[in-house]
Amino acid sequence: MTTWNPTQYLLFGNERLRPALDLLARIPLEAPRAVYDLGCGTGTATVLLKERWPKAQVTGVDSSSEMLERARSLGKDITWQMDDLSVWQPDAPCDLIYSNAALHWLDSHQRLFPHLLEGLKPGGALAVQMPQNFSAPSHTSITEAIHSGPWRKRLEPHYRAHPTLEASAYYAILRPRVASLDIWETTYYHVLSGENPVVEWTKGSILRPLLAQLDEGEARAFLEEYGALVRKAYPPGQDGKTVLPFKRLFFIAVR
Ligand SMILES: C[S@@+](CC[C@H](N)C(=O)[O-])C[C@H]1O[C@@H](n2cnc3c(N)ncnc32)[C@H](O)[C@@H]1O
Repeated sequence: MTTWNPTQYLLFGNERLRPALDLLARIPLEAPRAVYDLGCGTGTATVLLKERWPKAQVTGVDSSSEMLERARSLGKDITWQMDDLSVWQPDAPCDLIYSNAALHWLDSHQRLFPHLLEGLKPGGALAVQMPQNFSAPSHTSITEAIHSGPWRKRLEPHYRAHPTLEASAYYAILRPRVASLDIWETTYYHVLSGENPVVEWTKGSILRPLLAQLDEGEARAFLEEYGALVRKAYPPGQDGKTVLPFKRLFFIAVR
């Protein structure tokens, strides 16, 4: 199980919040009563769900005690539940299952999403955002760095180079099971500051399970290798800023 570092993850809090808001804004529900945020992390988006529907019973679900501890410290009227999403089900059919930047950590999407739809009441919605940047240098450089060092055999089992499917595959999985379906992709152009900020970005998420396998010296060497690749792919501009194009996939399925 990946250990999360809430502080590193929140380094790019504003950039990571934007897709959460874009997803929330498109949910076509007036007054859902039972609302779940799957892979709620530090609870930033969970709070937004509660703010939009103050009368709803909102529950944030996550498997990371570090992330949930940070979420609890927000002190909101929200239930925080520690659970593994690969076996999670709501206690009773619910109105909204929301998930921002989490379900790409789970395998078998052909099974996962039909299963989640079954947890909804008729008229309930499944609203999901996942990164879709796995063919861009931010992510292909990870595979390159894995292949280029003595750590290859150890790291390969811990890296899923293509955890998401194409949008058309999600359409095929979801459409026969729902009354309406909205799927879209957005590429955000994040303008980042600092010395090689793409490394700092991925260190807060996708690199975590890999770095956990390496000792301190190896982790430094791996980050140098990866860092050199992404610096070349995303050189800073004249203003010293680094632009990171980052594609994300969204869907909202209403039963
Ligand atoms: C990138 S963070 C996103 C957090 C939050 N949704 C947000 O938008 O800020 C991904 C979260 O998914 C959680 N997660 C990943 N796999 C999980 C699993 N199998 N069960 C429960 N939570 C999981 C992680 O612990 C982490 O908090």
